[in-house]
Amino acid sequence: MALVETNVIYNGKMKCLYLGKLSVLSLLLELERDGFCQNPFFECLVAEVPEEYKSNEGFTVVGYALYYYTYSTWNGRSLFLEDLYVMQEFRGKGIDKSLLCKVAEVGKNKQCVRLQLSVLDWNTPSLDFYAAKGGQDLTASEGWHSIRFDGQHLDKLADEAPKD
Ligand SMILES: CC(C)(COP(=O)(O)OP(=O)(O)OC[C@H]1O[C@@H](n2cnc3c(N)ncnc32)[C@H](O)[C@@H]1OP(=O)(O)O)[C@@H](O)C(=O)NCCC(=O)NCCS
Repeated sequence: MALVETNVIYNGKMKCLYLGKLSVLSLLLELERDGFCQNPFFECLVAEVPEEYKSNEGFTVVGYALYYYTYSTWNGRSLFLEDLYVMQEFRGKGIDKSLLCKVAEVGKNKQCVRLQLSVLDWNTPSLDFYAAKGGQDLTASEGWHSIRFDGQHLDKLADEAPKD
């Protein structure tokens, strides 16, 4: 358990650097708070290589998949894959695919009938990768748009909630 926690936090840092965010420390604290509480908001699998294959920077944890559970009233249990990331120097070795397959296995074992995720439109390699593995592009096939409320818009909605 301690090892996984360390890895998640480490990978949170890796993700943070990947996304170019500045607030590494606050992200790490958030990941620790939300992933290791009584009812965790996410689960995470990490890919580790033997010491002799460690990364150029000396890491043995070289990738991760972070996911959580969602629900469809039509279809039941689902998984949402929030992040799939493997260090550049370890790509093309089947690690991304293994993480994706492992997440699918976790979901199947919990009777999930779907694995969903979002990909930015410029990320052609990932779009192609998921398509090659059988993922449907729901924007193209069903016209789904991704909607987000945050910041002042989220505050406003919450403020306008009926009070008892
Ligand atoms: C696209 C990406 C996820 C693929 O990862 P990868 O490490 O090259 O892929 P793997 O070596 O694990 O996968 C191997 C399998 O995927 C296939 N594959 C890999 N990249 C592919 C692509 N661009 N198009 C189609 N198939 C692809 C391989 O043919 C191979 O298939 P097989 O095992 O069935 O023969 C990775 O290169 C990448 O860009 N990562 C950046 C981070 C990112 O954007 N993550 C996703 C955010 S949603």
